[in-house]
Amino acid sequence: MNPALSRREFIAAAAVTTATGLLSACRTLPTVEPAGPPQSPVAPSQQQDFTEPEILASSNGLLEVTLVAAPLLVATNGPDRYGYGYNGEGPGPTLRLRPGDRLIIHLENQLPEATNLHTHGLHVSPTGDGDNVFVTIEPGDTKTYSYDIPDDHRSGLFWYHPHHHGSVARQVAAGLSGAIIVDDELDAQPDFEASTERTWILTDPPIGSDEQVLQADPMEQMFGRQGDVVLVNGMDQPRLDLTAGTVERWRIVNASSSRYYDLALDDHEMYIYGSDGGRLAEPLKVDHVLLAPGERTEVVVLPSSAGQYSLRAQEYDRGTVAMGAMMSRSGSGSTAEAVVATIGVAEPGPAATPPQLSGVVADIPGEPASTRTLELGMGMDGGMMGGGSMMSFTIDGRVFDPDRTDVSVRSGTVERWTIVNTTDMDHPFHLHVWPFIVEGNNAEPGWKDTVNVRANDSVNIVIPFTGFTGRTVYHCHILDHEDLGMMGVIEVNP
Ligand code: C2O
Ligand code: CU
Ligand code: CU
Repeated sequence: MNPALSRREFIAAAAVTTATGLLSACRTLPTVEPAGPPQSPVAPSQQQDFTEPEILASSNGLLEVTLVAAPLLVATNGPDRYGYGYNGEGPGPTLRLRPGDRLIIHLENQLPEATNLHTHGLHVSPTGDGDNVFVTIEPGDTKTYSYDIPDDHRSGLFWYHPHHHGSVARQVAAGLSGAIIVDDELDAQPDFEASTERTWILTDPPIGSDEQVLQADPMEQMFGRQGDVVLVNGMDQPRLDLTAGTVERWRIVNASSSRYYDLALDDHEMYIYGSDGGRLAEPLKVDHVLLAPGERTEVVVLPSSAGQYSLRAQEYDRGTVAMGAMMSRSGSGSTAEAVVATIGVAEPGPAATPPQLSGVVADIPGEPASTRTLELGMGMDGGMMGGGSMMSFTIDGRVFDPDRTDVSVRSGTVERWTIVNTTDMDHPFHLHVWPFIVEGNNAEPGWKDTVNVRANDSVNIVIPFTGFTGRTVYHCHILDHEDLGMMGVIEVNP
């Protein structure tokens, strides 16, 4: 039904289809351009001050919260934005935890569709009422999730979002996401405590006041839908005023369904302190940081010169599907430069010293006992010629089947996985529950749970399968691709 196609076969098949079914489909879909209309600058008078979602912090080892997922309508500088939110906000509240805590979430579904919840990046049990993506919460129902954060959980920015297969891209794009922060001893270190910590949740929702805006056409889904506007904590190009000589420590999550952010701050270098799953051994000085969907970073910025600076998402080309190229929609997956936020520094001053990271060493997993290769690909999904015109996205030639176990692992083993991308687009590969280290000279250091695999390239990761057993998933974090099948099931057995 979904035969894996080699790239050449795929292009040939796509050419046939383009000549028959798809062109007519495209005539009725003039807005195929997935990058959305160019973002216009927000007039300074309309700029909002940078604010963060409400923080709900644990006390005495427990954080118990209710999240109500429901539709909402947000006024913007332009048309209203119809979307979804948690507790009336998109993104929802930030959950702040410590290692050893218990997190209890009562998720109330007031959406017109089924949903569920995933705690992206948390090293917690995937079974039962834990981080179990196989549960479905029907409209009107409430489910209570309970997560025990291990005593040795690393500090980092994690996030929660729906994971109901088939509608993940739409629900996340609509605004359903929120941050989870786990603190550790390093966060209590004086120079960390003295820094200004900020959480940035980057989303790109569709604009338009009716629920139709949540629907993406087949082409947009194949490219991976991109919204109309880049938002920080729900705000369009917010303004942030910094004081020279202070240490700014920013935790940033790309919570967009498909958009990549290659972040750079005018005239400033950034120091990377942490990646998806914890802190680095030492700060890494960079002039930009690329965040594929699902990825996080922790960066330190040291303001000193007075001025106005833009935090920009630089242009990034994440490739195309063959069909897109043939229809001469150049750069289908490419994202034009966008201003994410405006930074102001009023008075100059000497730059502060960056906080110490020394003494924190990323644990290196043992030598892998076994290796496996996973192939990210594309296939035809039957109805292609009939106007349905949908590609399937596959791993090892198969689309997701929740009843099939694709990978079985014995708990306690370390594995090396080679993720091969046979397509002309980037795919950010994500594994639940067990963080990994990316191998290679130019690999991003530190613990990761999502890694970008460039078009026609491959990446090696080393994964220690420790701490938990159970069934969960790995997938492409371009969420439309996940919904179209680029996901597999892993079972870690005792
Ligand atoms: Cu952030 Cu399986 O996802
Ligand atoms: Cu995840
Ligand atoms: Cu993908």
